[in-house]
Amino acid sequence: MIQLWAGRTDVLVGARLLREIGERCAAKQLQTRCAVISDENVAAHFADRVQRSLKGSGFQTMLIAIPAGEQSKTLEQVGAICDQMIAAGLDRQSFVVGLGGGVIGDVSGFVAAIFHRGIPYVQVPTTLLAMVDSSIGGKTGVNTSVGKNLLGAIHPPVLVVDDVDLLQTLPPRELRQGFAEIIKHAIIADAEMFEELKGFQASDPLSLQLLIRRNVEIKSRIVEKDERDQTGERALLNFGHTIGHGIERAGDYRKFLHGEAISLGIVAACSVSMKRASLAREQGAAIIDLLRRFELPVRLPSDFPRAKIFEALKFDKKFQHGEIRFVVTPRIGSAHLSRDVTFDDIRDAVDEL
Ligand SMILES: NC(=O)c1ccc[n+]([C@@H]2O[C@H](COP(=O)([O-])OP(=O)(O)OC[C@H]3O[C@@H](n4cnc5c(N)ncnc54)[C@H](O)[C@@H]3O)[C@@H](O)[C@H]2O)c1
Ligand SMILES: [Zn+2]
Repeated sequence: MIQLWAGRTDVLVGARLLREIGERCAAKQLQTRCAVISDENVAAHFADRVQRSLKGSGFQTMLIAIPAGEQSKTLEQVGAICDQMIAAGLDRQSFVVGLGGGVIGDVSGFVAAIFHRGIPYVQVPTTLLAMVDSSIGGKTGVNTSVGKNLLGAIHPPVLVVDDVDLLQTLPPRELRQGFAEIIKHAIIADAEMFEELKGFQASDPLSLQLLIRRNVEIKSRIVEKDERDQTGERALLNFGHTIGHGIERAGDYRKFLHGEAISLGIVAACSVSMKRASLAREQGAAIIDLLRRFELPVRLPSDFPRAKIFEALKFDKKFQHGEIRFVVTPRIGSAHLSRDVTFDDIRDAVDEL
């Protein structure tokens, strides 16, 4: 078990963990009633098992399954979930179990953050991305018509249960996109993991468990130093994300999955790093090779509307107030924020994609 936030969050990584959820919640001294919040795809696979385990430990559960996908990440959906919880008699002694990918993590975490001004929250991530990234750090929230993740709260879960068995039903493309964040972690913080990924076999459950654990540790180490995004440490996790977000937005969030856009953003951030942070050409090439090994995109399709990427960049927090703060890597395993990067550097990097 990994303990984060001075023992406030326990993270379990392993196999066959779903059956233990009830016991684990009891051990965290959670009270009788809970809402299991999931999406319709995930609920069909796993909600029964989670509810059975919770009931076996004496909890009363209700299931709320919302439509799968980013379009469920709205304030309206959060309100509708809260209404159902109130109607079912849940109160400030109750807790929330979020069972799903990053969308469910963000929505259910936000529900837990505001229901009766905040109730405990357990996260059961079911995508690789959610296990190594979104479940760690306490960020929860929803989108608005103007942009993504504009409303939210920091509300870390009391317990995160990463059961690798759940990844077996995950569509391969969804699994692959999780590796973009893992490769990002390797580039910014762990040169040894970068080397190991070159020979990594995702089909081996034990290696996958160890890899997830290592990534939970990397992300939590960074986040714990900068819980509220103030010192710049947490900003390092945005490596590849400035241009990646622009690509995601330019593709109307349909053309690329988040991790795929980040893969392209990493390639672009490497070319900026070669120019502005003396990243060695061979290291840049090794990063592209590794992304390719995980079948992640490293080139934009020739007909992609590149101009829309620059439009989208204007929405990026880092481009407001005219000053660009861009995360660069001088060598694999380290990263820093640079103020030397110009808009032209970014344009050149996108043109090369
Ligand atoms: N809070 C944070 O710090 C943070 C960090 C990164 C990303 N995010 C958010 O995470 C979201 C993306 O998360 P995601 O990529 O996990 O997407 P997702 O939650 O939409 O899941 C992807 C798809 O896979 C399906 N699915 C999930 N688990 C499955 C399983 N085990 N078997 C079969 N199907 C399964 C889902 O139903 C969905 O259709 C975005 O909204 C993003 O903003 C948040
Ligand atoms: Zn990301």
